[in-house]
Amino acid sequence: MKYFLDSAKLNEIDYAYKAYKIDGVTTNPRHIQASGKPFLVAITDIANWIKENNLEGMEKFPVSVEINPHLDNKDDMVKEAKKISSLSPNFVIKIPCNLEGLKAAKELEEQGIRTNVTLVFSPSQAIQAGRIGAKYVSPFIGWKESSGEDCYDYMAKIATIYKLKGYKTEIIAAAVRTGKQMAEMAELDVDIITAGLAVYEESFKHPFTDFGLKQFQDAWDHTKEN
Ligand code: E4P
Repeated sequence: MKYFLDSAKLNEIDYAYKAYKIDGVTTNPRHIQASGKPFLVAITDIANWIKENNLEGMEKFPVSVEINPHLDNKDDMVKEAKKISSLSPNFVIKIPCNLEGLKAAKELEEQGIRTNVTLVFSPSQAIQAGRIGAKYVSPFIGWKESSGEDCYDYMAKIATIYKLKGYKTEIIAAAVRTGKQMAEMAELDVDIITAGLAVYEESFKHPFTDFGLKQFQDAWDHTKEN
């Protein structure tokens, strides 16, 4: 299983790669906005960071970058995707899972430009992403669970379909918000989890670890020789 960082902030990407060896990055327009930089500057900075860290190559460190979400026809989506893709060999192009988006993703994959079909909320949407051979499919977990849905069975269903049909598309459990979601997704045939830095750091902690450490410190202090 691989673990991607959901962020467009260079300091977070650098820290998470060096401290926790994250396997890749996913971004979206909200993450670009949170980076405080214009779109092109933010993604060019990421492309340069990839070079500086000798991580060039999509299989080494894939970075998903989303096309302009206002684009509403296949040809414009393909044109924009090609432009973004030319900026780094690591960029995988995020395309929305609507009718025009799926047509665009199919064409891009046929031309060798790898795609991440995003904003997926149902198994039937995920099936089409698999059929067209997208590199990734991103069903969003956090958004659905915030609306009161449980995503375990939903993700299990997508994973089962992909296995049965032999789709090569890798499944990203996207917008993971909690350690519980992270552990649940790790039980399934899901290939990748993507989450924000705070989600990872929170998931590494447990209050009993701190409590236990304090007990051991107290005991340690009583073992000192007089
Ligand atoms: C990546 O694919 C993200 O998980 C997805 O775009 C949702 O991210 P957000 O809910 O943090 O904006």
